[in-house]
Amino acid sequence: MIKKGIILAGGLGTRMSPLTKTTNKQLLPVYDKPLIYYPLSILMLAGIKEILIIVNKGTTNQFKKILLNGQNFGVKITYAEQDKPRGLPDAFKIGKKFIGKDNISLILGDNFFYGQSLSEKLKRASKLKKGAIIFSYPVKNPSRFGVVTLKGKKIVSLIEKPTNTNSNLAITGLYFFDNSVVKKTLSLKNSKRNELEIIDLLKMYKKNNLLKTEALGRGAAWLDAGTIEDFNQTSLFVSAIEKRQGLKIACLEEIAFLNKWINKNNLREAISFYGNCDYSKYLRGLF
Ligand code: TTP
Repeated sequence: MIKKGIILAGGLGTRMSPLTKTTNKQLLPVYDKPLIYYPLSILMLAGIKEILIIVNKGTTNQFKKILLNGQNFGVKITYAEQDKPRGLPDAFKIGKKFIGKDNISLILGDNFFYGQSLSEKLKRASKLKKGAIIFSYPVKNPSRFGVVTLKGKKIVSLIEKPTNTNSNLAITGLYFFDNSVVKKTLSLKNSKRNELEIIDLLKMYKKNNLLKTEALGRGAAWLDAGTIEDFNQTSLFVSAIEKRQGLKIACLEEIAFLNKWINKNNLREAISFYGNCDYSKYLRGLF
């Protein structure tokens, strides 16, 4: 059972400069809320209540201003700082104490997931006892991503940014690991780009037949808000769905309220925290 999650929300955001010169990418707006709301909502939908957010050095207070310690939406958020990007597995070094003896999920702060039955898939994955789970998603340009090749359900290969590949399945930025990930990370060596690589960790699990893929099919949406173009696409997607349905994607208080993690009084407090805005109006409509 996975009860803890890490959001990796540091990074330089070079591809989005000058926007990211003063503000971390995860605090920039995706339509009507900061980007970090989306990955956080995914952990909450998986039933995860203990969350560590890893941010860049000196920026904890910026994140705290909007997320506090998670009390507005019934979770417990702690923060840790990364002095510079050292690669995704660095999350397990920084988070060693937070993880303790438990299994852990990791989500990248700039990843957006949406789709029918996503919550069920997440809840199922959070039952993991041993091994690791990745989520694959079909993409047009696999060479931009880590790619998984499957034969039936069996994983044949894992390749980072392949120039040539028969598979169009990107490995998305959401992972579930058993506790051995902490120890495995310690044995990782830096890659050519001088970072720890998550694909090397995944290969260790695969070698022992302990890696599983869960498919996010074409009915789901996965966007990696790494470039300005992707960022705008994500905003447009959220705006289109929210306007059509009148329902919000990644409204953290709504997820918490439906999970019975918070009550009507907490919703009232959240409304006064946000002030007079559309988001508050939406919260008012929940009770
Ligand atoms: P990247 O896309 O590798 O990096 P980035 O978002 O900073 O962008 P750029 O390449 O344009 O400089 O990272 C994916 C996500 O993970 C992103 O949200 C930042 C975060 N991250 C960290 O917090 N620490 C790290 O060491 C790395 C590598 C990424």
